Amino acid sequence: MKILLNQDELDAGVERLAREINETYGNRPLTIVGVLTGSFILMADLIRKLEMPLRVGVVQTSSYEGTERGALSINSEMMLDIAGRDVILIDDIFDTGNTLQEVTQLMKNLGPNSLKSAVLLLKTGRQEVDWVPEFVAFDIPDEFVVGYGLDFNDEYRNLPYLACLEPADLPNTDS
Ligand code: IMP
Ligand code: MG
Repeated sequence: MKILLNQDELDAGVERLAREINETYGNRPLTIVGVLTGSFILMADLIRKLEMPLRVGVVQTSSYEGTERGALSINSEMMLDIAGRDVILIDDIFDTGNTLQEVTQLMKNLGPNSLKSAVLLLKTGRQEVDWVPEFVAFDIPDEFVVGYGLDFNDEYRNLPYLACLEPADLPNTDS
């Protein structure tokens, strides 16, 4: 596996995101909603750098089977009440954008005062929607990446760095 972002680079990116969010919201109370599972490490690191009064909740989506997108499912049973609140959705990566688009739609129906999104990674040239998140730590090339919360078939989330999964790392699917 080739390392794309090491621990120091990831730290600097999260620090940058936190600074932008702190500057944007000042001391206004904020509700953070993390999109599980991929955002859990970013969320843990990011929220400890945020300075305003904070509520934290989660919503769960899943879409990938291996490196291919499957049907998206959203489980919002654990979501906080966001009516009238300033909300930031947090996800690991903005790839086609369909996941955050669908979660954003669902959340808008719950009447937040404002809704923005923050991601660690934006995959260049892959977007299928006409917007991008307001807060992005890194633009990365179109490669499948793992680590720092991102998985391949639910593995590798614990790597402390971000790595490109290379063909040699994949199980042989020829039959
Ligand atoms: P989107 O809906 O295409 O934007 O995909 C977003 C979701 O797909 C993210 O929350 C990730 O869980 C997953 N995903 C997209 N690209 C990658 C990748 O390179 N590695 C691991 N997961 C990815
Ligand atoms: Mg995910």
